[in-house]
Amino acid sequence: MSEKPELFVANWKMNQRHEHAVSFAERACALAEEVATDNKQLILCPSFPSLFDVTTITSESTVAVAAQDCSEYESGAYTGQVSAAMIADTGCSYCIVGHSERRQGLDESSEVVARKAACAVENMLAPIVCIGETLPEQKEGHTFAILEKQLNPVLTQLAQCKGDINDTVIAYEPVWSIGTGIVPEKKILKSIFDWLHDYLQTAGQLAEASLLYGGSVDEKNAPGLMGLDTVDGLLIGGASVDFQSFRKIVLS
Ligand code: PGA
Repeated sequence: MSEKPELFVANWKMNQRHEHAVSFAERACALAEEVATDNKQLILCPSFPSLFDVTTITSESTVAVAAQDCSEYESGAYTGQVSAAMIADTGCSYCIVGHSERRQGLDESSEVVARKAACAVENMLAPIVCIGETLPEQKEGHTFAILEKQLNPVLTQLAQCKGDINDTVIAYEPVWSIGTGIVPEKKILKSIFDWLHDYLQTAGQLAEASLLYGGSVDEKNAPGLMGLDTVDGLLIGGASVDFQSFRKIVLS
């Protein structure tokens, strides 16, 4: 079995205007060639209006493209929403679901997130499912219970899915770490990733999932984070908006 690639996911959120997204994508193709022998997979997550152009630019390279969200519905009267099928039409191969900025800011429940993950899979997109606890939850010692609560609906939905779930990615992003400059201590992270790994192995259906860490990743902390056995990659927000900073993380 070939070794899993290391994933470097650039989640630009609502930051890159189209022109910037296009020039970043061009430079990312060159970066992918630079690391071609390193088993590193770059994944760019532009906003919806830039998806077509970014997938076109990256189509001849190994760079993959992800949408930042999809609808929980296949189609219908849902003004402003974008279905997984529409995202697949743009040439994307991944789709982020359940980012904490949507769970918290838009009240997305874990059941909604699970339906989005299922829609992604059924349209041949690999979901990047974000999970993570808030600071009060962490302080009260509820981290594992929260992760379980967020994961279980996804496991149930994906078990019933028609598509291939083997490329599913799970991103652990403690909410208190996102955009704060605070990264959990290595010992704590190790225990969470070990737990996550074992939980998915026991559940069975996502035993193959790649596991990402996200939250205040930068070029300085990236090597330490990637040094953890069970971390297969990084979901990078703020530090992925500037190409040079993303490049340093990928090369670190
Ligand atoms: P951050 O964001 O790297 O800016 O903390 C990560 C994320 O929200 O995915």
